[in-house]
Amino acid sequence: MFAPRAARRSLERYRRKGLDRLERMMLRSAAAGRLEGRRVLEIGGGIGILQSELLEAGAARGEVVELVAAYEPYARELARDRGFQDRTSFRVADVLDQPDVADPAEIVVLNRVVCCSPDGVRLTGVAARLAQGTLVLSFPRDRLVVRVGICLLNAWLWLVRRSFRVFLHPRAALFAAAEAEGLRLSEENRVRFWEFASLRRP
Ligand SMILES: C[S@@+](CC[C@H](N)C(=O)[O-])C[C@H]1O[C@@H](n2cnc3c(N)ncnc32)[C@H](O)[C@@H]1O
Repeated sequence: MFAPRAARRSLERYRRKGLDRLERMMLRSAAAGRLEGRRVLEIGGGIGILQSELLEAGAARGEVVELVAAYEPYARELARDRGFQDRTSFRVADVLDQPDVADPAEIVVLNRVVCCSPDGVRLTGVAARLAQGTLVLSFPRDRLVVRVGICLLNAWLWLVRRSFRVFLHPRAALFAAAEAEGLRLSEENRVRFWEFASLRRP
């Protein structure tokens, strides 16, 4: 699913259109408070769009940890475009297999990632443990239209013999996983098919 073509498209789309509505809301929430001197970690970040926006907004350092190596050249291209190649790094790893692969960061971003894993709830817990200040998390909304869409997409993936599936995790389970790591829900909002939440350390 996340092959070089998808990675290239993701950079092209971002250059053409910038952030979408969900990402703009997540950015505003993640950037609330002081950014100067702070580190950002984007897990399952693809080319690391939100991380790059937070660097632009004043964060000191950023890191993208991503399962799929195909994103790396495009993440580097984006960092070069923006002139912060020495303030960001890209690491290929499965955060579930190697929860200690990344150093904790003040801001951790998990954008449209938990729905790509059957272990999305555990992934939220791992991300929350790495968040020294804020975890900003997005996931599909539990609406009939979303459930039907996911079923149809998974049926198509099965038909074309792809092993990838999309998962709808209960928001209460996602929040509980973050709260078990000491975070508290501080903001949530939604757009059509997605919602996001910011959870902060009290
Ligand atoms: C739908 S994409 C979203 C990419 C990016 N966050 C964005 O919004 O453009 C989900 C990404 O999560 C990554 N991912 C899923 N599980 C992961 C894991 N356990 N560790 C690291 N990355 C993971 C996938 O490789 C994929 O690139």
